[in-house]
Amino acid sequence: MRAMPVNVKSLRKEATQLTDRALEELLPRVDDVPASIHGAMRHSTFAGGKRLRPLLAYQAAVTIAGALPPGIERLGAALEMLHTYSLIHDDLPALDNDDLRRGKPTCHVAFGEAIAILAGDALQTRAFEVLAGLDSTPAATVQIIALIANAVGSVEGMIGGQVLDLESEHLKPTPQLVEAIHRAKTGALIRVSVVAGGVYAGATADDAARLDLFGRKAGLAFQIVDDVLDLTVDSAHLGKTAGKDEATEKATWPAVFGIEQSQRDATRLIEEAFAVLEPYGARADGLKAVARYLVERKN
Ligand code: IPE
Ligand code: IPE
Ligand code: MG
Ligand code: MG
Ligand code: MG
Repeated sequence: MRAMPVNVKSLRKEATQLTDRALEELLPRVDDVPASIHGAMRHSTFAGGKRLRPLLAYQAAVTIAGALPPGIERLGAALEMLHTYSLIHDDLPALDNDDLRRGKPTCHVAFGEAIAILAGDALQTRAFEVLAGLDSTPAATVQIIALIANAVGSVEGMIGGQVLDLESEHLKPTPQLVEAIHRAKTGALIRVSVVAGGVYAGATADDAARLDLFGRKAGLAFQIVDDVLDLTVDSAHLGKTAGKDEATEKATWPAVFGIEQSQRDATRLIEEAFAVLEPYGARADGLKAVARYLVERKN
């Protein structure tokens, strides 16, 4: 029996609603003392992000379990808190020095640098607190926490990638360097979102290895597209300052391979990622649709 074609728009909408409700409940209230930091955490979290990492986690879980497991929205919310923390810090004057994010003034522009740094820190610690209370089995919860902590860390994780990204500005990038940056700064959190969603849903070691490979390919494709969009879409549509990468001489995929090759590489990576999901048949249709959206998106 052939499955119905998946409507990625409705998957995105449902996932965003699920994630936003969980975030609303799990983040400190605006008037919790000290209010300035809680206002800052909410300002950046509810500025209108695409919620792609939660969406990937949900569809990875569906691939494994055939349906959304109860409580997975708290995993999604924790992933989104970590992602938002990384964006707040990415935009700081000491890093990319951006004043526009998700169509709004960046956290440090709205709340000052000190509160923005601390809001990022607090989103990170709250994320791990939420993960510790997940409804998965104790073994799965510990595995999820360890995988996520590793993926946002300094060894081939998000923080390590940010360091490489900053230290590579103004250098002539090689293919190896730009791949290492992209796999770490963005790819690692995308990859672990997929794996963690699967583990939450009861993935075996073989399942987790397949999801990891899928996530590696989709994560690299995602950042290649982020680089292309920086060059091809204006700030109003992006919700962040366009053309920043060239201005700061960042090590990007198009800087090494050009725009057209970059688009081809992203498409090829997604096709390769699809092949990894072969054993799951139609249960992976949602995850595939999301992966396709990662490379076809316009912001
Ligand atoms: C942007 O990520 C930052 C990168 C990691 C490249 P997204 O494109 O997922 O941003 P939001 O969450 O929708 O704002
Ligand atoms: C940011 O990469 C990656 C992280 C936030 C970890 P970019 O610097 O390319 O992201 P944008 O383009 O500012 O969203
Ligand atoms: Mg950056
Ligand atoms: Mg940036
Ligand atoms: Mg970028």
